[in-house]
Amino acid sequence: MKEELLQLAEAMPKAELHLHIEGSLEPELVFKLAKRNQVQLDYASVENLKAAYSFNNLQEFLDVYYAGMSVLLTEDDFYDLTWAYLQRVHEEKVVHVEIFFDPQAHLERGVPLTVQLAGIHGALEAGKATLGISYRLILSFLRHLPESSALETLELAKPHLDQIDGFGLDSSEKGFPPENFQQVFAECKKLGKPITVHAGEEGPPEYVWQALDLLKVDRIDHGNRALEDDALVERLAKDKMTLTVCPLSNLKLCVVEDLKEHPLLTMLDKGLHAMVNSDDPAYFGGYLLDNYRALIEQLPVTRQQLHQLARNAFTSAWLSDEDKARHLAAVDEVFAG
Ligand code: HPA
Ligand code: ZN
Repeated sequence: MKEELLQLAEAMPKAELHLHIEGSLEPELVFKLAKRNQVQLDYASVENLKAAYSFNNLQEFLDVYYAGMSVLLTEDDFYDLTWAYLQRVHEEKVVHVEIFFDPQAHLERGVPLTVQLAGIHGALEAGKATLGISYRLILSFLRHLPESSALETLELAKPHLDQIDGFGLDSSEKGFPPENFQQVFAECKKLGKPITVHAGEEGPPEYVWQALDLLKVDRIDHGNRALEDDALVERLAKDKMTLTVCPLSNLKLCVVEDLKEHPLLTMLDKGLHAMVNSDDPAYFGGYLLDNYRALIEQLPVTRQQLHQLARNAFTSAWLSDEDKARHLAAVDEVFAG
């Protein structure tokens, strides 16, 4: 039974909608870029850096994540980072990606938005042309910085809206509620762009309510703690709101103690539109297929639930109805076999 599901997970076309491109920066590439750019690292070796990948919470991870990305300085660095991710997931039959980048973290180091975009967008276009992976690029604001910084970043982004498909909100959650960002997301909406916000990863259900009611989000990233509030679960189900769930991330950041306790199947049982993602695969021990594999191995996933998850990834994507239908037909064909 599990063997069949593992084979289906491998064979099915997959989409990933919650991926921080800076979180796909593998330790080997950190060292290569540090050398190329003459950046001094606090870690003596790849093994040394990997040994730091043990986290008790989101903030402990973020400290290492921001340190790791300090090697990203040039267009080539952003290109190489993004290209490495696309090549890796292409091997796993990922055919559509919607990826975040954190421009404020790079602006702070003096890297212009144009440089970041040229590298990331250049690789995404190359991936589309040569690997057949379609994409959306999501500019994510850092919630530990004030809204004024997000508004300034949005101004910088305005000349590049042809390359930015949506907006997000990430970084330290507790103490930085969605309500702090009403103005900037209202502007994003006015620009006609969809928005998706990290909420309920560590923060309370109240933050998920705020994301829905105050920011008018199109998706929720994570959303685990929504399960603590029955009225919120009902609302999310009624709205068919997508939750971009990240199982291995939840395990590594101690959102769940054990994957056997992961709430993904409970979410599906309650009628929530959940789907599977890797979040920061270089740090959390696995890319998208590893997340599906871990779920199949640790939870009583049924064939029907795996099929549902595969479909949810595409129905939640910011794709045209026509493209969604094409991908869904390909998913259904794998499950019909
Ligand atoms: N949560 C919040 N912010 C992040 C994450 C995450 O899992 N990954 C990168 N930035
Ligand atoms: Zn995330």
